[in-house]
Amino acid sequence: MKMVGWMNFKEEMMQKTERIEAALAAFLPREEGFQRTVIEAMNYSVTAGGKRLRPMLMEESAALFGEPDREALNCFMAALEMIHNYSLVHDDLPAMDNDEYRRGRKTTHVVYGEGMAVLAGDGLLNYAFETAARAFDGAATAEDYRRIAASLQILGAKAGIYGMIGGQCADLEAERADGDMTEELLLFIHEHKTAALIQAAMTIGATLAGAAQAEVARLEKCAYNIGVAFQIQDDVLDVTGSTEVLGKPVGSDEKNHKLTYVTLHGLEESKREVERLSEEAAGILASFPARNLFLEELVRQLIYRER
Ligand code: IPE
Ligand code: IPE
Ligand code: MG
Ligand code: MG
Ligand code: MG
Repeated sequence: MKMVGWMNFKEEMMQKTERIEAALAAFLPREEGFQRTVIEAMNYSVTAGGKRLRPMLMEESAALFGEPDREALNCFMAALEMIHNYSLVHDDLPAMDNDEYRRGRKTTHVVYGEGMAVLAGDGLLNYAFETAARAFDGAATAEDYRRIAASLQILGAKAGIYGMIGGQCADLEAERADGDMTEELLLFIHEHKTAALIQAAMTIGATLAGAAQAEVARLEKCAYNIGVAFQIQDDVLDVTGSTEVLGKPVGSDEKNHKLTYVTLHGLEESKREVERLSEEAAGILASFPARNLFLEELVRQLIYRER
C-alpha cells in the first residue's frame, strides 16, 4: 500500500473507532443504586479501550449490503462488545488464565475482587441481550422484526456453548490434559473461542442490512478465516510481543502450559498461516458485488498487528 493510502486508512480507522466509542458509551448503564459496584466493574472493563474490532467488523459488513437501520445496528454493535468484554473479564480470572493486566490496566478482578468480577461478567452478558433486544423498539415492518430476531439467534449461538463458551471449555481442558493437542482440537478451540464472535459480528451486520442467506453463509466462512488468523496472531504475540504495546502480559500461554498454534507449528509457519487465512478472507470479501475496500484493507492490516 502506498504511503498516502496507508495514512488514509489509519485516519479512517481512527475516526470509525471514535464513532464506535461514542455509540457504545450511550448504552452503558449508570453507576447508581445498591448495585453500583457491579456496574462500575462492568464499565471499568468496557471503557478500558480495546480495538473495538468486533463492532467495526459488524458495521463494515453491513455496509457491504446496504443501509441497515442505524439504531438497530448500534444496539447489536454495543451488545457484541459487551459480550466480548465479559469473555475477557472471565478469561483473566485466577480460575482461568490468571492474568493481571489487560489493555494496560489492572484486570477487573484485581481491582474489584474475584466475586465482583464474576458478577461483572454475568452482568455484561445479560445487559448485552437487554441492549440487543432494544433494537425491536425502532422496528416498523415485519422485515425489520425478522432481521432483528435472526440477529438475536446468531448472537446467542455464537456466544454460547456451540460458540465462544464451547471454545473456552476445550481451551481450559486442553491446558489440563498437558501435551495431548491435535490439529483438530486446536482448530476447534480457535474457531470457537475466537472466530465465533467474529462470525457473529460479520453475519449480524449482513443480516441487519438484508443480505441473502447464501451471502451470510459466505461471510461466515470469511469470518472463520479472520477469527482463526486473529487467534493465531494472538498466540504469536504472546511469544514475540511486548507487554507495553500489547497492554497484557506476554508469556501467559507458556505460564498456563497452553499448547497453541505456535507450540504446534513454530513461529514462522504460524505467521504464514495468518497471512494465508487473511488473504483468503480478503478474496472472499472482494467477490461480493459491492466492494468495501476499507474492510479488505482492515483484514490485511490485522496480519501485521502488534496489539
Ligand atoms: C482479545 O481480543 C481476545 C482474543 C480473542 C485474542 P482483542 O485483541 O480483540 O481485545 P481488545 O478488545 O482489542 O482488547
Ligand atoms: C481468549 O483467548 C479468547 C476469549 C474468548 C476470551 P486468550 O486467552 O488467548 O486471550 P487473551 O490473550 O487473554 O486476550
Ligand atoms: Mg484464555
Ligand atoms: Mg487469556
Ligand atoms: Mg492470548
